Amino acid sequence: MTNKRIVLIIGGGIAAYKCLDLIRRLKERGVAVRAVLTRAAEQFVTPLSVGALSNEPVFTNLFDLNSEREIGHIRLSREADLVVVAPATADLLAKMAGGHADDLASTVLMATDKPVLVAPAMNPRMWLHPATRRNVAQLKADGITIIDPAVGEMAERGEAGPGRLPDVPDLMAAILDALDRKTNTAARIEDGRATAKAALLPLRGRRVLITSGPTHEPIDPVRYIANRSSGKQGHAIAAAAARAGAQVTLVSGPVSIPDPAGVAVIHVETAQEMLEAAQRALPADVGIFTAAVADWRVASAETQKIKKKAGSKAPALTLTENPDILKTIAAKGPQRPALIVGFAAETNDVTGYAARKLKTKNADWIVANDVSPHTGIMGGDRNRVHLVSVGGVEDWPEMSKQDVAEALIARIAEHFAAQKDAAQ
Ligand SMILES: Cc1cc2nc3c(=O)[nH]c(=O)nc-3n(C[C@H](O)[C@H](O)[C@H](O)COP(=O)(O)O)c2cc1C
Repeated sequence: MTNKRIVLIIGGGIAAYKCLDLIRRLKERGVAVRAVLTRAAEQFVTPLSVGALSNEPVFTNLFDLNSEREIGHIRLSREADLVVVAPATADLLAKMAGGHADDLASTVLMATDKPVLVAPAMNPRMWLHPATRRNVAQLKADGITIIDPAVGEMAERGEAGPGRLPDVPDLMAAILDALDRKTNTAARIEDGRATAKAALLPLRGRRVLITSGPTHEPIDPVRYIANRSSGKQGHAIAAAAARAGAQVTLVSGPVSIPDPAGVAVIHVETAQEMLEAAQRALPADVGIFTAAVADWRVASAETQKIKKKAGSKAPALTLTENPDILKTIAAKGPQRPALIVGFAAETNDVTGYAARKLKTKNADWIVANDVSPHTGIMGGDRNRVHLVSVGGVEDWPEMSKQDVAEALIARIAEHFAAQKDAAQ
């Protein structure tokens, strides 16, 4: 057992001499021992012999300036895997049960956040005294482990009964067992926490970029070309990604819904602005492009409101193509997110177009949906999507946009988990 450290508190009992052998045995097993002696303990063993055997400084006085400078009583109580009290006198048990902290030993015991193992040793009458019974019961209730004293002859002539400090091999077994249990418990707790965290926050540490909503392409300062996208699906995905622990940047076109919680939102108007904001948000592990970006914009928007003149013809709008945000960001290159998910809103041959879009845009997945007016999807709260990838087409049942978002984020988390497993 290496790299383990205990603080051994030696109380002022006749059995204190056994601690010298205990320290030697622990050292042989690779356990480092820092000893604290009570004032009474110094009457039974000397700090010199304890220090010589432990090969560590020995601590005796709460108000020792050198010790405090060197380590400090709080650090002393925390820099251990286990605190052992042996022999624990009746007096030390009483102090511990009462929460006293009037010397170094009792202060360390009050300040520690580590498991405490106590080996009482005293005259049988002291051990069986109602006060000691109460104190032991209190300490057990406080979560302290008590090694029951052995039964036998006492140092005092003619006295026998329970109260002997167990022999060193028995103390060793209890200490090593406690150290082992602590390691296992700590590992189990850590594992459990990690598993729970991984289950609760499967995208923790991932950066996710999402575009959402429509774009507004100006005709003049007051008029624009737009589409019916509400942003509900993209915003729901951003919220679900944030709940999964991801660091989310949402580039949103003009929408009338609130910003999702826990997400960095960049508000834009036009396709050009959306592209620039998305590029600035890179690098990202995942790019999800739900925005209904206008394919065209007015070639030269007027800077002043176009006036209606009596008798004159309606103005002709010349359109020019907008940048393709999905295609631009999905293009091969160092900034390309590892997983690119495009959305395809179609009114006919939904999965056929999606499969073609997968290739032409260099996306990894396309979420396709039928936005024909009869479906009520554009602006509505429900969605029926198909997940298209090189592996084929998955038809998802109709569900709320929230549920689509949760399901998509779960699929993305699975995708990364599978990649991690494959890499191990
Ligand atoms: C010779 C001698 C032996 C003692 N042995 C014990 C003992 O085995 N257990 C015990 O609880 N107290 C024993 N005591 C009493 C303690 O030393 C005394 O209660 C002391 O205040 C304990 O201080 P501490 O708890 O700070 O170590 C003994 C006292 C003397 C003089």
